[in-house]
Amino acid sequence: MAYWRKPVLALGLALAVATVGSLAYAQADDAIKSRKDGFQVFRTSAGAIKRVVDSNGPAAEAAAPAQALAAQAAKQVSFFPAGSDKGNTKAKPEIWANMADFTAKMKAAEDAATAIATAAAANNIDGVKAGFGALGAACGACHKAYRND
Ligand code: HEC
Repeated sequence: MAYWRKPVLALGLALAVATVGSLAYAQADDAIKSRKDGFQVFRTSAGAIKRVVDSNGPAAEAAAPAQALAAQAAKQVSFFPAGSDKGNTKAKPEIWANMADFTAKMKAAEDAATAIATAAAANNIDGVKAGFGALGAACGACHKAYRND
């Protein structure tokens, strides 16, 4: 190899490593943004269900927000790829060491939202209230274990 090629090669390699590194960061940043947007769907939907609970109905009005929450919960774990514990996030690194438990806790929120949607479709306000209790417990259990205050 010609003597002048080595530094060029080294520079190229350094650039390649830097590019791969910043790509990984960009992907983690995208995931963090996507999951925060998803949790805002959780917040808005849970708020709409709470209004139905507080006003003692009409139960049917809880159906759409409960469905939106369940649909979001079904994809929410996909926005926690490995490496996205760094950056502008309150996610605890424990998530990635306990992914099965984290996934189960997300499924509990999804199941509670689905139960609310089913009760709402049957115009069953007691079922909506029971589901809302389970939903709140699911939010709290995961935040306690896996979210920094
Ligand atoms: C399986 C775990 C889990 C469940 C279930 C869960 N959350 Fe969270 N939530 C998190 C984590 C982790 C974060 C921090 C995300 C970050 O900063 O990257 C978070 C963040 C949030 C945020 C802040 C989002 C932002 O813009 O920074 C809101 C609001 C929120 N959750 C609402 C809820 C509500 C409401 C529920 C229940 C309906 C819920 N979450 C259920 C794990 C969970």
